[in-house]
Amino acid sequence: MSDLQEGQVSGLILIVDDELLQRLPMRETLEQSCFRVMEAKDGADAWDLVQRECPDLVISDVVMPGMDGFAFCERVRRREEFKHLPIVMATSLEDEASIERAYRYGATDFITKPINWNLLGHRVRYILRSARTAQNLADRESELLQTRIEIIRRLGQAAEYRDNETGFHIQRMSYYAALMGEGMGFSTQKQELLLHAAPMHDVGKIGIPDRILLKPGKLTAEEFSIMKTHTTLGAKLLDQEPSLLLRTAHTIALTHHERWDGAGYPNGLAQGDIPLMGRICSLADVFDALTSRRPYKLPWSVEAAVDEIDRNSGSMFDPAVVHVFHAVMPEVLKIKEAFSDPV
Ligand SMILES: [Fe+2]
Ligand SMILES: [Fe+2]
Repeated sequence: MSDLQEGQVSGLILIVDDELLQRLPMRETLEQSCFRVMEAKDGADAWDLVQRECPDLVISDVVMPGMDGFAFCERVRRREEFKHLPIVMATSLEDEASIERAYRYGATDFITKPINWNLLGHRVRYILRSARTAQNLADRESELLQTRIEIIRRLGQAAEYRDNETGFHIQRMSYYAALMGEGMGFSTQKQELLLHAAPMHDVGKIGIPDRILLKPGKLTAEEFSIMKTHTTLGAKLLDQEPSLLLRTAHTIALTHHERWDGAGYPNGLAQGDIPLMGRICSLADVFDALTSRRPYKLPWSVEAAVDEIDRNSGSMFDPAVVHVFHAVMPEVLKIKEAFSDPV
């Protein structure tokens, strides 16, 4: 954005109209209201200027030769960086169908023709002010999301540090999980959700005593039953959270040790009753554990780990997830390589 400073509403306005006799009085009026103005005679011209000059607001005619106002609006909205660019359509009052259509294509507001030149400056100032507020809100929201992602990542890492696992374990397993999500047809947004929530799967280990968590030998039955509570402890830590990201992390922490056959913990859920995110993370977690070096074992080869997962398909793992795991194996191997543990 150009000179949209705090407390001051001015800016660069792009006028799009094929008729010079419409553009001229509009330019004059807006310049008198202290706006800077650019002109385009059709949608294609306007699109060029939007990309080059990043105007603060566009006022566009609807009917124009070549790329009309609707097509222009649609083109602009397809680009993420112009999602919040205010586009005001100038159209005739009675043309309700055009107004409805323009809203669908992403227009922000309308001014009706014939234009009331006395009010134009006020109107544009008002729309710019609203757009600036919306942009500030969007910026703050994205900052908040980034903060949440970072907190999740660090908390997940804190839990891993207490365990024998390395910092790379959560990175690898989260990427494996996101790859499987993609293979299962998740939207990009859902894949990202999985990628950022999976690092919390073992956060409940923060509450497990060292004598159990760090015990080199086999756990007794009693110790194992305490160890199992890392799922419910993690879920408790993430309980009642309003953000979708932390709610997903809650689901994964609670269900990543459930088994397809119902013999898992903590709730003995089976098959479709286990949330898909939990089923995916379960496989990602086990594959990475098998193929990693731990103080008590050497890393398994990929082939041996895949054989083990295949053997447990339908008992421990959801067969559909195992199927997708095979399909994304080339990418899984790239991640394994990129985040390999230091020797
Ligand atoms: Fe776990
Ligand atoms: Fe893990």
